Amino acid sequence: MQRDILFVCLGNICRSPAAEGVFRALAPAPLRIDSAGTGDWHVGAPPYGPMQAAALARGVDLSALRARQFTARDFDAFDLLVAMDDKNRADMERLRPEGNDRPVHLMMDFAPRLGVAHVPDPYYTRDFDGALDLIEEAARGLLGALQEGRI
Ligand code: 4NP
Repeated sequence: MQRDILFVCLGNICRSPAAEGVFRALAPAPLRIDSAGTGDWHVGAPPYGPMQAAALARGVDLSALRARQFTARDFDAFDLLVAMDDKNRADMERLRPEGNDRPVHLMMDFAPRLGVAHVPDPYYTRDFDGALDLIEEAARGLLGALQEGRI
């Protein structure tokens, strides 16, 4: 099950690094797992302190991660692209290279039971635990989909 998976949000300091850490803790090797943000404000920064604290309380250490910006090259470099919300997906689509037809999945599509379309941005909602609840459920669904060959 060698796959290259990229989680994408806006700032790459809250939702996508949390998804990267949660999924890495859950998934067996060999998987290449990374995250990126469509914006460039936080490039080089570690995940946002309150998100790091909320994740660490669940046993997921995000401290070594550093933000980077999503680029057009990521469409070819990863075979599984997962956006946290529709705006992230639309921003990614603007960078799609000609000839690349890799789908951009939505994170919450892997948790259909919850009936939630997006991972709300906790940078604004301040609900870091709520975001982690959604991300954990979707990460389990994503792993199941991979293991069963559905994606
Ligand atoms: P994220 O949250 O997309 O989940 O990393 C954000 C963090 C920072 C900003 C936006 C979203 N910002 O505009 O600084």
